[in-house]
Amino acid sequence: MEETTPPQLRAQVLALILPVAGAGAEGEADRILERAAAGPGEPAARALELARKRAQGAPLGLATGLQAFLGVTLAAREDVLAPREETELLGRSALAVLAGLAGQEPGRELRMIDMGCGSGNLTCALAAAMPQARIWASDLTASCAALTVENAARLGLGERVQVSCGDLFEPLRGRGLEASMDLVVMNPPYIPSSSLEKTHARLLEHEPREAFDGGPYGISIVTRLLQDAPAFLKPGGHLLFEFGQGQEKLVQRLAERREAYAGIGFAADAQGAPRVGILRTLERP
Ligand SMILES: C[S@@+](CC[C@H](N)C(=O)[O-])C[C@H]1O[C@@H](n2cnc3c(N)ncnc32)[C@H](O)[C@@H]1O
Repeated sequence: MEETTPPQLRAQVLALILPVAGAGAEGEADRILERAAAGPGEPAARALELARKRAQGAPLGLATGLQAFLGVTLAAREDVLAPREETELLGRSALAVLAGLAGQEPGRELRMIDMGCGSGNLTCALAAAMPQARIWASDLTASCAALTVENAARLGLGERVQVSCGDLFEPLRGRGLEASMDLVVMNPPYIPSSSLEKTHARLLEHEPREAFDGGPYGISIVTRLLQDAPAFLKPGGHLLFEFGQGQEKLVQRLAERREAYAGIGFAADAQGAPRVGILRTLERP
């Protein structure tokens, strides 16, 4: 039997993933080939196996077991959301806040909570970029908490990262953390339950419902986040969170109703759509 040449293998991988990867297919094909070359097993067979997984709809991170996010490489798992590139906007916005604080008070410990930490993508990227950051990460599911611990340890960040498991801020209460945080970040689930069942049902084939289901209108967790975060923030502390396309008016109304914040700003994606809410608690609550 003739051996497949590297260009032929790349073409086969591309053909498999093109329907799901679209414009990103070239880059994804290279990542699949790199990952397959790193083993285990025979590289060509492994590359085709990973490409088939991707073709069945698994995000690239899940297909390859590794996910790049804002300068760090993380392990990915089936029962944890594979971090999305769009969430780098939240990461970069959080980094700008931390860098601003570090510029005002060089050397001071910067304390933050990463709520709904998933794989630990925001936690690890922010801890890696900001050596003075100390992060309390938490998630509803034990799988997410465990993967965050593992990813932080692999990147040598474990000493500055504490991970808990439970419903929103519940596991952080009564530990002396109230009113001490410079920043709270969250990429919450924000897809309305009904559209998750219909238009977005495919997401649930590979990743857990908890990562997506935002309740009847998509804003159940955001509503609770806006309610509960101020108790953990210092006066003037920042709350940054991602939300779904077109949810900005809803989010703005919710923020204004909760009288703990001094207005709301937004960060927009490359197409100009607002996707990150940026709030500060009042200096004098
Ligand atoms: C959209 S995913 C984001 C994961 C990760 N931070 C990221 O950016 O890829 C939402 C995360 O929130 C977690 N979550 C959902 N409901 C929660 C709750 N009530 N308390 C804590 N975490 C929750 C999910 O398990 C999931 O990991």
